[in-house]
Amino acid sequence: MDKKYDRIILITGGCGFIGSHVVRHFVKTYPNYLIVNVDAMTYAGNAENLKDIEGIENYVFEEGDIRYYAEMCHLFEKYGVTDVIHMAAESHVDRSLVNPFEFVETNVNGTVNLLNAANCAWSDPTEKHVFFSMITDEIFGSLDKDDPPFNENTPLDPHSPYSTSKTAQYLFGKTYFESYGLPVISLACGNAIGPNQFPEKLVPLTIDRLMNEERIPIYGAGEQMRDWTNVHDIVSAIDILFHKGTPGELYCIGGDSCRTNIDMVRALINCFAVRTTKDFNEFDEKVKKLYGLITFITDPRGKSHDFRYDLDHTKITKELGWKPFYTFDDSVREVVDWYLNNQDWVNNVKTGEYKNWIDKYYGKEIDKK
Ligand code: DAU
Repeated sequence: MDKKYDRIILITGGCGFIGSHVVRHFVKTYPNYLIVNVDAMTYAGNAENLKDIEGIENYVFEEGDIRYYAEMCHLFEKYGVTDVIHMAAESHVDRSLVNPFEFVETNVNGTVNLLNAANCAWSDPTEKHVFFSMITDEIFGSLDKDDPPFNENTPLDPHSPYSTSKTAQYLFGKTYFESYGLPVISLACGNAIGPNQFPEKLVPLTIDRLMNEERIPIYGAGEQMRDWTNVHDIVSAIDILFHKGTPGELYCIGGDSCRTNIDMVRALINCFAVRTTKDFNEFDEKVKKLYGLITFITDPRGKSHDFRYDLDHTKITKELGWKPFYTFDDSVREVVDWYLNNQDWVNNVKTGEYKNWIDKYYGKEIDKK
């Protein structure tokens, strides 16, 4: 181990949305840790996300792909990795319905590569290590409107190729703990909201379309419900679990902010209108125009579309003192302001690949309206 640093943490997928916030937090909060960010720089990875920390001494970037076992073993050896925060994933449900193979390769094979590389590298039982694994509430399936939220004991019941691949990720982590004693700590997390999210997910897609006055696609009647957790709250949970979590355990976090999709879109529109209307007399007209962009489309997820996700965070709150700090309104304001102030960032990520995806997935349906 490099004696200069107390821990050498390999963070996977650090150029993505949540990953970049995790990298920045650990680099800035712990100058005594070396942070090695490995990212394959696929469509959702963006070097811009971490421009502000380039050049900081305890930060290193490595372009690499968790799907290649030898590459991961090489990184463990090169840096003497003591811990892993595994954030890399294919994460878009819609894309998983179109191409399930990529989800198996990255989320399942990639995870097993990392688990195995860690297990081989960490052979001294007297040394302390952490393997943090980022999971999702989708492993528990779907709730009805009035069901109590999921918790750590809810049976696994995934419905899409994405959630099934994340369930496999969780189970492989559990298996490596049970079979080899690898200190895996897993976190099931709900829908994230915050700056730097790739504009294929509901929140950034809606804001981007508001900025361009384009139609906003709502699947079905928009009645599905999601619990929104601010990305900074997710980072604080990861920090707490990394330092104080119990190996072999699963923890759930949520934002206590469950909303229907249509209510989320309305909240974004209202906030966007407040922020972008110069003359107060024009406000009502503006809101009406923006509401007119809402376009209900045939649900592309069909039967696999989970109705409601909601997580009970009692365990982590009671045991480790974590709870969400941001309210729903705080998060909406923060995210709308960030996208309005970072339009170049948004335009730079909307490459040809992005346009193809949007045209193919929504094109015909939206054009029919
Ligand atoms: O719950 C955590 C999960 O949340 C994460 O593990 C996933 O990585 C993340 O993608 C997210 O999954 P969702 O499918 O809930 O997120 P998404 O933003 O894609 O969709 C949120 C809801 O909005 C969902 O019910 C589908 C709907 N939707 C989505 C899009 C992109 C629309 O109505 N229109 C859209 O254009």
